[in-house]
Amino acid sequence: MKKIAVYPGSFDPITFGHLDIINRALKIFDEVIIAVAHNEQKKPLFTVEERVDMIKSVMKDNTRATVDTFDGLLVDYARSCKAQAIVRGLRAISDFEYELQMAQINRGISREVETVFLMTSVFYSFLSSSIVKEVYSLKGPIDGLVPPLVKKALDAKFNR
Ligand code: PNS
Repeated sequence: MKKIAVYPGSFDPITFGHLDIINRALKIFDEVIIAVAHNEQKKPLFTVEERVDMIKSVMKDNTRATVDTFDGLLVDYARSCKAQAIVRGLRAISDFEYELQMAQINRGISREVETVFLMTSVFYSFLSSSIVKEVYSLKGPIDGLVPPLVKKALDAKFNR
């Protein structure tokens, strides 16, 4: 049976930390569906379409990674993809409480889908999309944090 995982998130924008998790998930699963959430309440900088396009460009050479969007309950989406697992990255203890809550809620809704946590590489343990946006908005360097095409997209967004 094909092992499929959904890797959900806001990806606003995708960072090298996300890519680290995707590449490691691809060692465990046959297919990883990178699922961009329609979560307008988080007031994202990039539209869902822009986020999807960036991820597709970054992952273009990997046929086992697909990109999609989802609305509504994550477990419903995972079931509709026939995914056995939801993958989430854990950076630090500070992530744990929220991730535990989410995993337990999701398990309460459906026992068919397991949540699998991958510990972020220590090199990216400080990295988040929010930090990237903050450093960029304050004109700090973000090379080494996001792929070059994401830096270009930020330049376009901020007219730099
Ligand atoms: O990258 P993020 O913003 O931490 O991702 C959070 C996300 C999108 C995975 C989470 O908000 C989510 O699963 N949203 C879908 C709605 C849902 O299923 N909620 C119940 C579980 S908390």
